[in-house]
Amino acid sequence: MFSLFRSRKTHMLGLDISSSSVKLLELSYFNSRVQIETYAIASLPDQAVVERKVQDPVQVGETIRLMIEHIQPSTRNTITAVSGASVITRKIQMNASLSPSEMEAQIIVEADQFITIPINEVAIDFEVISPSTEPVKPVADNPKKQDVLLVACRLETVEHLQSALEHGGLSPKIIDVENYAIERAVSLLRPHLNLEAADPLIAVVDIGAALTNLSVLHRDETIYSRDQIFGGKQLTDGIMQHFNISYAAAETAKKKGGLPREVLQPFQQTAQQQINRALQLFYSSTAYRLYSSPRHRHIDYILLTGGSSSTEGLASTLQTHLKTPTSVANPFVIASINDRINRAALDHDAPALMTAFGLAMRGFNNATD
Ligand SMILES: Nc1ncnc2c1ncn2[C@@H]1O[C@H](COP(=O)(O)OP(=O)(O)OP(=O)(O)O)[C@@H](O)[C@H]1O
Ligand SMILES: [Mg+2]
Repeated sequence: MFSLFRSRKTHMLGLDISSSSVKLLELSYFNSRVQIETYAIASLPDQAVVERKVQDPVQVGETIRLMIEHIQPSTRNTITAVSGASVITRKIQMNASLSPSEMEAQIIVEADQFITIPINEVAIDFEVISPSTEPVKPVADNPKKQDVLLVACRLETVEHLQSALEHGGLSPKIIDVENYAIERAVSLLRPHLNLEAADPLIAVVDIGAALTNLSVLHRDETIYSRDQIFGGKQLTDGIMQHFNISYAAAETAKKKGGLPREVLQPFQQTAQQQINRALQLFYSSTAYRLYSSPRHRHIDYILLTGGSSSTEGLASTLQTHLKTPTSVANPFVIASINDRINRAALDHDAPALMTAFGLAMRGFNNATD
């Protein structure tokens, strides 16, 4: 049938700022198809971001500006995130008949009770959720109470982030929370993973440059998240020592691949020990005891993300030693790829772009065609 309504192509940038780098990804959405248009990854100077919070908005902004100049995306609309560790979340119950302004006033009163810093130094956001985490639609269906998710963060953290984006020439549309971006990306990838369990516990192991994060997801919700000091920098150090070369040359050698076994193996072994320890910590945590049932004793799947998960042979070593199906995340299996992108480079960079992908995808939540 002839359609009177033309679909419009929408573009969105996902911006992921970590302690060591900035990742910028442009996606477009058209006729229910997602396409990767451009992307860039740039290193950050030391101390520009500390503990996943922007300390120096001008330096971070300058890094962003150079990336924009380089990739020239066709939008400046950006979704970025604060780290999960910078926010406090609470589920509260509220009267469903409240108007938005009444809700806002009550939220501030509620937040004041569990936040220890002065309320005028806090950024607060909230979302109405039903038990299924779907937004509650008709109030008549739920006349009395509704669950509301309250998210609070230091105002300064949000302001520094916004200021970095503005210095970089970007227009911040949504400030999300990193965990939510990962949840979104995992839920989109889930049909493409070889999952056998009907209701799996998925461990997302993000191996970055200096940090490794273990997040455990159940039904697309993060039930546990913890950072460990371990990352690809250790392999870079190993390469520097082995070949007696500079840091930059070692990074290049690492990305080129074909490293000798005596350099790769110690790193793989340490990675395996670190991840095993992280999993044991999870198993002994309250989160695990709360969520596990007699049928549900173990992590069913390990999804590796972060730049260092591209290390040769790492996924298979982990799968063998941890006795759990493991794969390296490629968020782009669900997208098409613009011809001007270098496919080989993207294949290596894909697992590091998982958060940026989850962020940009939020821009298409309400996309219609
Ligand atoms: N193709 C590759 N093979 C192996 N390692 C790689 C590859 N590409 C990038 N890396 C490594 O990945 C690391 C960067 O990963 P990522 O971008 O996920 O880290 P980050 O989020 O910036 O750091 P952190 O989380 O520690 O703050 C670096 O150590 C880099 O050398
Ligand atoms: Mg990281």
